[in-house]
Amino acid sequence: MSIIINHLAKTYAENSERQVTALNDLNLALDDHEFVSVVGPSGCGKTTLLKILAGLIEQNSGTVEFRGEHGAPHDCTGFSGSGTAPMADCRRQYRVGA
Ligand SMILES: Nc1ncnc2c1ncn2[C@@H]1O[C@H](COP(=O)(O)OP(=O)(O)OP(=O)(O)O)[C@@H](O)[C@H]1O
Ligand SMILES: [Mg+2]
Repeated sequence: MSIIINHLAKTYAENSERQVTALNDLNLALDDHEFVSVVGPSGCGKTTLLKILAGLIEQNSGTVEFRGEHGAPHDCTGFSGSGTAPMADCRRQYRVGA
């Protein structure tokens, strides 16, 4: 599966006065079987990007295209955080919940 991201933008609007631009004009092309890490300072939009790729939230503009026989990877996305075991790897997180 390859992923093509074009001009992706996401702004969170907490209210009419306070808006946060998390992603602005993000362009990325990931090849089939390419292994990629998303790194950057806290608040730069990493989780926002992954949530959009997982279909958990919608972008304001731009496109995400999944090319390949399996389609979008919505069924295999996991996040750690509150409510999960911080020291456990992905498999153990899901075993705890099962
Ligand atoms: N639900 C939300 N409502 C309002 N603002 C948000 C929301 N989620 C994220 N933001 C803001 O969007 C920006 C990007 O947040 P995001 O969580 O994507 O960053 P991050 O790179 O994952 O940060 P961290 O490394 O701390 O996990 C931050 O300024 C954050 O405060
Ligand atoms: Mg994050």
